[in-house]
Amino acid sequence: MRIALLGYGKMGKLVEMIALREGWEIGIKLDMTDNPDGSGITRESMAGIDAAIEFSQPEAVLPNIEATARAGVNMVVGTTGWSDKRSEVERIVSESGIGLVYGANFSVGMNLFFEVVAHSARLIGMLPQYDAYLSEEHHRTKKDAPSGTALNILDLMRPHLASPNLSIACVRAGSIPGTHVVGFDSEADTIILEHRARNRQGFAEGAIMAARWIAGKKGLYDFRRVFREIAGIK
Ligand SMILES: NC(=O)c1ccc[n+]([C@@H]2O[C@H](COP(=O)([O-])OP(=O)(O)OC[C@H]3O[C@@H](n4cnc5c(N)ncnc54)[C@H](OP(=O)(O)O)[C@@H]3O)[C@@H](O)[C@H]2O)c1
Repeated sequence: MRIALLGYGKMGKLVEMIALREGWEIGIKLDMTDNPDGSGITRESMAGIDAAIEFSQPEAVLPNIEATARAGVNMVVGTTGWSDKRSEVERIVSESGIGLVYGANFSVGMNLFFEVVAHSARLIGMLPQYDAYLSEEHHRTKKDAPSGTALNILDLMRPHLASPNLSIACVRAGSIPGTHVVGFDSEADTIILEHRARNRQGFAEGAIMAARWIAGKKGLYDFRRVFREIAGIK
């Protein structure tokens, strides 16, 4: 595989390391300076690229998707904080005929955690004596809050909650790679589920998995669905 890196920060560099380990080639790397508004992404600069992997910043996502779609290249979008632009992204993907996988969290562990949370919410959430809560902690440079992962978790839980109380807390401090805690609290006890990312490597490995999966496909896919298919979860 020959890939393009759109965004060459903490995540872009890790994706590069894992891609090279897989024997893949990096065709082009674009940062803010080479690609301020998607202008570095052209048919010429993307020639021979099998997939682009995008980890940049929320404001850059839409121009990057538009330009990559114009170039006719499939992509994996890891950047979070653009859920308000989802319908526009759906239109771009369907009109251009590219394939795009997006995900708030590409780590295998977090995708397993999504399954555990969904099951727990179905089990515990129907009991009105339990209030649910969610807390998330990330490093000080994370721009969006709540995290895209936290929003995914809330979407999984909400349909199952009998109690109207759902409290959310966000912490931005130091260099925490990402911690998400889901709790159910009653007068009698507390049930806690916790996912703690130890580093960013798991995110990069999932993005590589998604790039391999999207090759030759069309349409818009949430990584959660891709992961369920790859992991054989019914
Ligand atoms: N889905 C997941 O599993 C997952 C996991 C981790 C992080 N994330 C998300 O991924 C994003 C990036 O995280 P990070 O830790 O890699 O951030 P980072 O270290 O700040 O890197 C972001 C990079 O994007 C570049 N950039 C900004 N605008 C650009 C543009 N128009 N075109 C190309 N590159 C551009 C920046 O370039 P300059 O340095 O020149 O400004 C910087 O190198 C964030 O939204 C984060 O929340 C998602």
